[in-house]
Amino acid sequence: MEKTGVAIVGMGTVGAGVARLLLEHGDRTARHAGRTLWLNHAVVRDLKKPRGVELPEGVLTDDLQRVIDDESVSVVVQLIGGIEPAKSIMLRLLESGKDVVTANKALLAQHGPELFDRARELGRSIAFEASVAGGIPIVANISQCLSANQIQSLRGILNGTCNFIVSKMDAEGASYKATLGEAQKLGYAEADPGMDVDGTDATQKLAILSHLAFGARVDWSEIPRRGIGRLKSVDFRYATHLGYRIKLIALAKLTDEGLVLDVSPMLVKVGKPLAEVRDNYNAVSVVGDAVGPVFFQGQGAGQMPTASAVVADLIDTAVGRTAITFRTLELWSEGRDRAGMAPRGSLVSRYYLRFDVQDVPKVLSQIAGALGKNGISIGSVYQHDADLSDEGIVPVVIVTKETTQASVGAALAELASVEAIDSVAEQLKILD
Ligand code: NAP
Ligand code: HSE
Repeated sequence: MEKTGVAIVGMGTVGAGVARLLLEHGDRTARHAGRTLWLNHAVVRDLKKPRGVELPEGVLTDDLQRVIDDESVSVVVQLIGGIEPAKSIMLRLLESGKDVVTANKALLAQHGPELFDRARELGRSIAFEASVAGGIPIVANISQCLSANQIQSLRGILNGTCNFIVSKMDAEGASYKATLGEAQKLGYAEADPGMDVDGTDATQKLAILSHLAFGARVDWSEIPRRGIGRLKSVDFRYATHLGYRIKLIALAKLTDEGLVLDVSPMLVKVGKPLAEVRDNYNAVSVVGDAVGPVFFQGQGAGQMPTASAVVADLIDTAVGRTAITFRTLELWSEGRDRAGMAPRGSLVSRYYLRFDVQDVPKVLSQIAGALGKNGISIGSVYQHDADLSDEGIVPVVIVTKETTQASVGAALAELASVEAIDSVAEQLKILD
């Protein structure tokens, strides 16, 4: 059987998983690729670090030039995280005639269009299935299988670390800090876990999906985002009481005003598929105008699920299928039917609002007054003065009817100066 030489640059959590699949299941990959994918090199910084996988003699190296100079290597898996040196290395690989497979969403969200254009100029491809939602084949599905559709909306749980944490906080009342440590040990978190918990990672993935689904070349840093770091156990308890779960949701929706994008913790009704996605699992719910709703679910972080997507990309690159996803991006880059952005704050949803108030007369009417003045209708009000209260401070929870982010912002700004309101403690959108 013909051989295609392969190299891996970056042998951390994911790189070691890719090596395991190539070395332990070469027969599988060969069957699908029609050729043997042969691991020639694995490039690391530190040759002494244990890798958790037994590599054949001479494969491990700290010299990238060996990959560049090896003409039998036509495709390289690039698994260094962050922007630099990942970007320079990717350009060097493309310029030396290699196709590239990567899981690095931070790099693609920041410099994707530039890297894709350069790859196209050089007649090379970049495959990136593993960059969004780990093991779920969402990139291929949006760019190939759903290409007859105008995508109308995407709702995703796109960060495994955050979903692992909120699932444990919800089900076990676990502490945020201890659960984050566990997610790091399991290999779910980024090298800088701040990028997971502050919503950056999910936002970067949403930017990539929005490019594929709507042609939106959006700067990820301009997407409104909030992470899970400020969530409190009291809100998990109220959410349960109201019949919801709190999830970090990445949302993209085509509206009459344009494309609305948002990443934030939201309340999802118990029983809806997204509410039931637990642990390191991710899910994406897509609505297309022809197909209707489609739901994808699987492990969004971790060694082997991510390696599964990387190796599928290697096989696709070897047989020339990667070019299809690449063509989708090229059509969008010509500007055809590309979606424009809706004004900031225009996302319509119901809201969960929690105020910590002093237990004094009139406070409820002041809250209702400010909401009413900004056109916000109240759906329900909850006040548990005994078991959930704390030394004279009483939580008041209000569920609003549909309103905009801008109206909620205006009402809360008015209430910030009311003396009897200790704090506007939480505001979460409700995903209907
Ligand atoms: P990781 O465990 O931190 O591994 C990164 C590897 O890159 C390390 O082996 C490191 O080498 C190597 N490296 C860094 N700079 C290098 C350089 N200049 N030359 C050669 N090697 C270099 O990261 P990971 O979790 O495998 O993630 C890799 C990429 O996949 C990231 O972009 C991440 O966002 C993405 N991703 C991860 C997951 C996941 O579940 N972990 C899922 C989807 C996507 P040393 O070991 O020698 O320091
Ligand atoms: N840190 C990421 C997550 C890895 O937790 O989802 C997968 O991209």
